[in-house]
Amino acid sequence: MLTDDQLNHIRKFASPSRESGYTRSIYSYPAKFLSHLPQELIKIFTQEGDRICDPFVGGGTTGLEAMLLNRQFIGYDINPFAILVSRVKTTYISKEELHEGLKVIHRNIESLKEQSNDYLDSTDKECLGKLISSELNFLASSIKKASLNATLRDFFSLALIHVTKLIGRRDFEERENWQHLSMIPMFTRKCNKMIDAVSSLPHSVQFPPTFHLGSNHDMDVPEHSIDFILTSPPYLEVDVEYQQIQIQRRSLGKSKRTDFISKLLGTQPLPKKDLCWTGQGGSFYWSNLERSLSGSYRILKPNRCLCIWTGFKTKENQRKLITTIKKVHFNLLEVISIPLSDNRTASSRSTHHKRNTRMLKEDSIYILTK
Ligand SMILES: C[S@@+](CC[C@H](N)C(=O)[O-])C[C@H]1O[C@@H](n2cnc3c(N)ncnc32)[C@H](O)[C@@H]1O
Repeated sequence: MLTDDQLNHIRKFASPSRESGYTRSIYSYPAKFLSHLPQELIKIFTQEGDRICDPFVGGGTTGLEAMLLNRQFIGYDINPFAILVSRVKTTYISKEELHEGLKVIHRNIESLKEQSNDYLDSTDKECLGKLISSELNFLASSIKKASLNATLRDFFSLALIHVTKLIGRRDFEERENWQHLSMIPMFTRKCNKMIDAVSSLPHSVQFPPTFHLGSNHDMDVPEHSIDFILTSPPYLEVDVEYQQIQIQRRSLGKSKRTDFISKLLGTQPLPKKDLCWTGQGGSFYWSNLERSLSGSYRILKPNRCLCIWTGFKTKENQRKLITTIKKVHFNLLEVISIPLSDNRTASSRSTHHKRNTRMLKEDSIYILTK
């Protein structure tokens, strides 16, 4: 079904290379696709107007590329933060409206200094220091309380989450006098970058993508209605922070994960086991994957394709994936292996965490048909 030229083309675009374009780098969701690959796969497997689904939508990379290529898109994720990132990345807002929103937030900060809510626990505060902790609370309260519509509130919440992530990183402590640095200029800079990105999206699109909060085990999508599925499930036995922010402070001998994101969004933090499918010696992973794949099988049109991009720690698990694929009645058409370089992996997981995840030195794209 795929020609050698098409396979070579996929291999070429799957090789790690730098991300391009503002919008595509608005927020680096953990283990996200590089944008080139979804773009190329969408062009190979679909026509304009076709319906695409990503059942593990994450940061919305597939949705953004589908929208830019005039395809319909539907995505699912159980993580409210994933839905937020996806919506911000794909929603045009004018520069004027965004600059006005930023002014409102700045104005509010002053009036809220005495009455901010507390979005941090005592260890978060110890790690972040007094100044940054209180500024983070002012900014979060200001975003929550400002008279902004939901789209603007999502936009500024994501900017604040991004800055919090940068501050939590190990290298932030290397800055001179970091405990006395104000984070407000960092927030303003990030907002300005995101303003350029979001205002450069198309003003109106033929098919606005839809992102649903919920499990792909029960997608509300008619049977045989989807032309192409492109997705990347959680990685087996890899503990990823899909919903928390890591704060690393070597000088204090502390590394902790804060629930700041959930508190800001007003959602309940999800257990790691539900987000990453960890535990029970891997059996939880396989039972979840089987349910997700049967859900995908149900909604895909006959003779159409599903591409899964993933990686494992052992060859045995690669084989187990193939067994699971067949168990839910998909045919395996191709497995394209993607060698991973030391400093840049196919998904962003290793560079992102700068740690050895002991994965096989390749990811693979599994191309399945129904
Ligand atoms: C590897 S990430 C996907 C990254 C995505 N490809 C991107 O480019 O950003 C896996 C995602 O699966 C989500 N997830 C885990 N279990 C799920 C389920 N049962 N239904 C829907 N999403 C789920 C996690 O919240 C996480 O966002």
